[in-house]
Amino acid sequence: MFVKQLLTVVLVSQFLKSSSQSFNFTYNGFRRPLNDIYLQGIATVTPIGLLELTDTTVQQTGQAFYARSIRFKDSPNGTVSSFSTTFVFAIGTQIPPPPLSGHGLAFVVAPYFGIQSGTPSQYLGLFNVTSNGNDTNHVFAVEFDTIQSAEFDDPDDNHVGIDINSLISINSSSAGYWNETNQFNNLSLISGAPMQVWVDYDGLTHKIDVTMAPFNESKPSRPLVSAVRDLSSVIQQEMFVGFSSATGSSLSEHYVLGWSFGMKGKAPPLALSKLPNLPIDFNYSGLPVGAVALITIISSVSFFIILLIIFLVRFIVRRRRKFAEELEDWETQFAKTRMKFKDLYYATKGFKKKGLLGSGGFGSVYKGVMPKTKKNIAVKRVSNESRQGLKEFVSEIVSIGRMSHRNLVPLLGYCRRKDELYLVYDYMPNGSLDKYLYNNPEVTLNWRQRFKVIKGIASALFFIHEDWEQVVIHRDVKASNVLLDAEHNGRLGDFGLARLCGHGSDPLTTHVAGTWGYLAPDHIRTGKATTATDVFAFGVLLLEVACGRRPIEIQNERSERVLLVDLVFGFWNEGNILDAKDPNLGTEYDQREVEMVLKLGLLCSHSDPLARPTMRQVLNYLNGDALFPDLSPLDLRGNGVMMLGIHHRVGEPVMSNGGSSMVDSVLSGGR
Ligand SMILES: *[C@@H]1O[C@H](CO)[C@@H](O)[C@H](O)[C@H]1NC(C)=O
Ligand SMILES: *[C@@H]1O[C@H](CO)[C@@H](O)[C@H](O)[C@H]1NC(C)=O
Ligand SMILES: *[C@@H]1O[C@H](CO)[C@@H](O)[C@H](O)[C@H]1NC(C)=O
Ligand SMILES: *[C@@H]1O[C@H](CO)[C@@H](O)[C@H](O)[C@H]1NC(C)=O
Ligand SMILES: *[C@@H]1O[C@H](CO)[C@@H](O)[C@H](O)[C@H]1NC(C)=O
Ligand SMILES: *[C@@H]1O[C@H](CO)[C@@H](O)[C@H](O)[C@H]1NC(C)=O
Ligand SMILES: *[C@@H]1O[C@H](CO)[C@@H](O)[C@H](O)[C@H]1NC(C)=O
Ligand SMILES: *[C@@H]1O[C@H](CO)[C@@H](O)[C@H](O)[C@H]1NC(C)=O
Repeated sequence: MFVKQLLTVVLVSQFLKSSSQSFNFTYNGFRRPLNDIYLQGIATVTPIGLLELTDTTVQQTGQAFYARSIRFKDSPNGTVSSFSTTFVFAIGTQIPPPPLSGHGLAFVVAPYFGIQSGTPSQYLGLFNVTSNGNDTNHVFAVEFDTIQSAEFDDPDDNHVGIDINSLISINSSSAGYWNETNQFNNLSLISGAPMQVWVDYDGLTHKIDVTMAPFNESKPSRPLVSAVRDLSSVIQQEMFVGFSSATGSSLSEHYVLGWSFGMKGKAPPLALSKLPNLPIDFNYSGLPVGAVALITIISSVSFFIILLIIFLVRFIVRRRRKFAEELEDWETQFAKTRMKFKDLYYATKGFKKKGLLGSGGFGSVYKGVMPKTKKNIAVKRVSNESRQGLKEFVSEIVSIGRMSHRNLVPLLGYCRRKDELYLVYDYMPNGSLDKYLYNNPEVTLNWRQRFKVIKGIASALFFIHEDWEQVVIHRDVKASNVLLDAEHNGRLGDFGLARLCGHGSDPLTTHVAGTWGYLAPDHIRTGKATTATDVFAFGVLLLEVACGRRPIEIQNERSERVLLVDLVFGFWNEGNILDAKDPNLGTEYDQREVEMVLKLGLLCSHSDPLARPTMRQVLNYLNGDALFPDLSPLDLRGNGVMMLGIHHRVGEPVMSNGGSSMVDSVLSGGR
């Protein structure tokens, strides 16, 4: 009998022993391969082994569970065995002080690995508005809550609570710990500092203890918060353990650095030295003020340096691009005449409006000072729509640039960037001749000066037509292309631009380009510029200088346009050609010279190119080396037809072959 009883006791104790098998697991960091950890929501494991329950995404949940079920009860209707867990966590926030965080994390014992129905924010991913508080949840949790939710009777925004099926804790306390001398020390959950937690359940006394301490400190003997509750109705036989966390509308990061769990025994201690480090940019507001300031200074200084480097690189790249210019094969022969865009850019201070000397049909002219030589220059920026003709033009302009004549504006060099051409000339301090002629100018020229200018330009034209190795046609002789140097010598500028901007690369199909009023009728008819068409324009220039009038003027209310040639001819026909002279000339003038210049002007602007004198003859007349023939108005008439001037009226279609944008723009824009 006794033996039988003894046997039963032995058997029962044997049975008890086998059923009270302890179980434990330990994670000193969550390094891959990650065995038995199930991640849900936005939870991830970082490469260095941090379990990141949430990143800085708002309104999200993240959960991590030990993926194997754990036997909490020896029989379905039995009592819950003792269990214990410990873990190290850290909550950080990227909002600068005062930090705001959402919403905290919880250690969870649940019937499933992963709670699908939990919502973020204050529900911590554990429950939702309908399931919160329902006994069918079978959830036991310890919350580390960083937001005070009045609906859950939270004591503050930094508390630890024991939860059973509800976020309304059965007991809670402000985060902190009791130290060896039994004094309470606050802990800030969102300080970013790691801290360790111990949760212990005693199966016999049904006592739940939650204890926490700063990282690297031993477990305090007095728990932070406790409760006595038999969990048998809450925890089922097979359950899962893990963590759940949630963010609300503010940004925060919830990390678990290490975790161990023990069933029917103590949770194995964590090897704190093996736990992964928190990210460097993590907000360690728990650090001493000095350290935080140092980190802030170092990070902001390095941020500034990086910013500076980025800025510098961008600046250099932009600068490179800005001053980039490519030399095409055909340009290598002109390399000597070519200038660096960078130099021109600096010389003109970036082509600022302030330095704009003027702009016309062919582009804008800027004043500049060469950076090294301090020489005054005028840079003409020519925008050519097509590259066609550019090559010929550049070679022509460069060869003309080699010509040296005291009545030509010296070309110092050129620069080409894509389709933009820059021509660099000597700066002419007294500007262009047109400024001194029309509209009762403040400063005008006396007859001596005017005559000197005329002779200078005649000499320049003679030089390019006859006296140089090649015949060069200017194509755009006019008052605004005559520049006055410091001694008021006339100098001819802007060679051949008319052709370039008239898109004429093939001399045979050259479209008419030039300035209305200076265009010879034969030029308009044939589209071909010759030395005689230059002479025609020079004739118009002579009349302008002597009369102080534009080649075409609007005279009366009916907007009738009057050609200067017709006007002067009219005076001559009436026998008083001198009445055409500029009233601003005053009385100090040589009557013979004025008369000759007017008649010579008419002769040069004869509609028949063959009737026009050559520049050699013109120069001889002006210099007095040949006697100007004694002409009468009748000599300039042929076959009873008025041979002077332009037979076309302004506004009539001019072109023979297609029209020139140049002429059109001069017509519409006026000058
Ligand atoms: C456990 O309890 C339920 C009712 O609470 C009962 O129906 C069932 O038979 C019990 N099981 C055991 C093994 O005692
Ligand atoms: C709340 O949770 C319960 C289960 O716990 C689930 O059945 C229900 O669909 C959830 N409600 C919402 C709105 O998610
Ligand atoms: C608790 O949840 C269960 C199932 O989800 C439901 O049938 C029951 O009505 C809920 N109880 C309360 C009080 O909401
Ligand atoms: C316990 O904490 C109090 C308050 O912070 C402190 O003054 C005391 O020195 C601490 N005791 C020990 C042993 O660290
Ligand atoms: C600890 O926190 C509580 C409530 O947050 C506060 O009243 C108390 O002054 C704090 N104590 C210390 C030492 O900071
Ligand atoms: C933790 O404490 C040990 C000694 O107790 C010390 O050697 C170690 O540096 C500490 N680690 C940290 C991170 O404070
Ligand atoms: C709540 O926890 C504190 C600290 O452990 C304890 O003193 C208190 O008795 C607990 N309250 C309840 C209702 O369990
Ligand atoms: C953990 O479990 C192993 C056997 O699985 C055992 O050897 C060890 O002592 C246990 N550790 C603790 C702290 O209970």
